[in-house]
Amino acid sequence: MPIQNHISKLTLTNFRNYAALTIDLAPGAVVFSGDNGAGKTNLLEAISFLTPGRGLRRAPYADVAREGGDGGFALHAQLDGPDGQVEIGTGIAGGDTAGEGGRRVRINGASARSAEDMLEWLRVVWLTPAMDALFTGPAADRRRFLDRLVLAIDPGHGQRAIDYEKAMRGRNRLLTEGSRDDRWFDAIETQMAETGVAIAAARAEMVRLLAAMIDRLPDTGPFPQADIGLSGDLEAEIATAPAVDVEERFRRTLIEGRDRDRAAGRTLEGPHRSDLVVRHRPKAMPAELCSTGEQKALLVGIVLSHARLTGEMSGMTPILLLDEIAAHLDSGRRAALFSILEELNCQAFMTGTDAALFSSLKGRAQFLTVDHGVIGPTI
Ligand SMILES: Nc1ncnc2c1ncn2[C@@H]1O[C@H](COP(=O)(O)OP(=O)(O)OP(=O)(O)O)[C@@H](O)[C@H]1O
Ligand SMILES: [Mg+2]
Repeated sequence: MPIQNHISKLTLTNFRNYAALTIDLAPGAVVFSGDNGAGKTNLLEAISFLTPGRGLRRAPYADVAREGGDGGFALHAQLDGPDGQVEIGTGIAGGDTAGEGGRRVRINGASARSAEDMLEWLRVVWLTPAMDALFTGPAADRRRFLDRLVLAIDPGHGQRAIDYEKAMRGRNRLLTEGSRDDRWFDAIETQMAETGVAIAAARAEMVRLLAAMIDRLPDTGPFPQADIGLSGDLEAEIATAPAVDVEERFRRTLIEGRDRDRAAGRTLEGPHRSDLVVRHRPKAMPAELCSTGEQKALLVGIVLSHARLTGEMSGMTPILLLDEIAAHLDSGRRAALFSILEELNCQAFMTGTDAALFSSLKGRAQFLTVDHGVIGPTI
């Protein structure tokens, strides 16, 4: 595995409970431990802003800005890697509390055209306790997870999703207004067909590659092999038909669905309704019927296989943010996770209230204690 870009220094200003913080970080595993409410997840959230999107909590920017601050927040990361140092800064200015202008991104001191530019330097993927219900919860959460996995492999995916959403919002507006302006509908639906099929194709490709990667890994590991698939008309069609044909079919579906969608007040068919379908292979069981720990192990397995895939494809293994990762894993699985992370040679941030759960990493990881906004080495 090549040496990866890693975050060597992180500076936070008015970010959640941190008024001003600078920490030096090591490559490899980093463990943040501390009491409830100490600020561990906030650190991971800050790092999650180093990839496009709203971060691991999907919080409004106004909530991210520190209570009692000036309404803005900033974070700054220094990356070190094979090509030297890179500086990435992002945040919103005070007074822009709604974050309407979006957060700004600067790379090496210059304004980035868009947040996607960060993907040139690093990829970030996370697992949080909120995702423990990924397999049993709403499809929208699984779609978001899926699209984040696609984004790490295919940086153009974020813009496609934005373009599709924008077009769909336009169509939904026409629908709720009861518009019968066919020319407008035609124009918007053509855009939806183009971007929608591109989204479906990227998802299908990622799932195909990830499934192949999962097959390559030994099936006796502590993280069970997952059978992954997609449910969604476009994703199914794109596997066998040329994209132009699928586009044309989707466009016709939208045209024919106008009356039905007008009655519903929204677009009822498209890649915004697709789902990620996961099965526990050794048990031949749908993921949602597995135990809490089994679901967690499946999810960890998927994320680790994906990290390996991303590393092989892009030369950049994602930085992993594993919040409360030890909570549902038994000691055997924890040890296995640590050794896989080491083998992947990526920077992995892990949190827990109890540093003892990570004791087998002693000497192989950076241990930091988080104590209400103050961070120091764990003793
Ligand atoms: N905008 C904000 N301004 C100031 N403090 C905030 C802001 N948002 C959240 N906090 C506080 O930050 C603190 C730390 O939150 P965080 O979620 O990082 O804790 P944690 O260490 O992960 O705890 P746990 O172990 O319970 O998950 C909380 O007390 C929270 O109320
Ligand atoms: Mg937390």
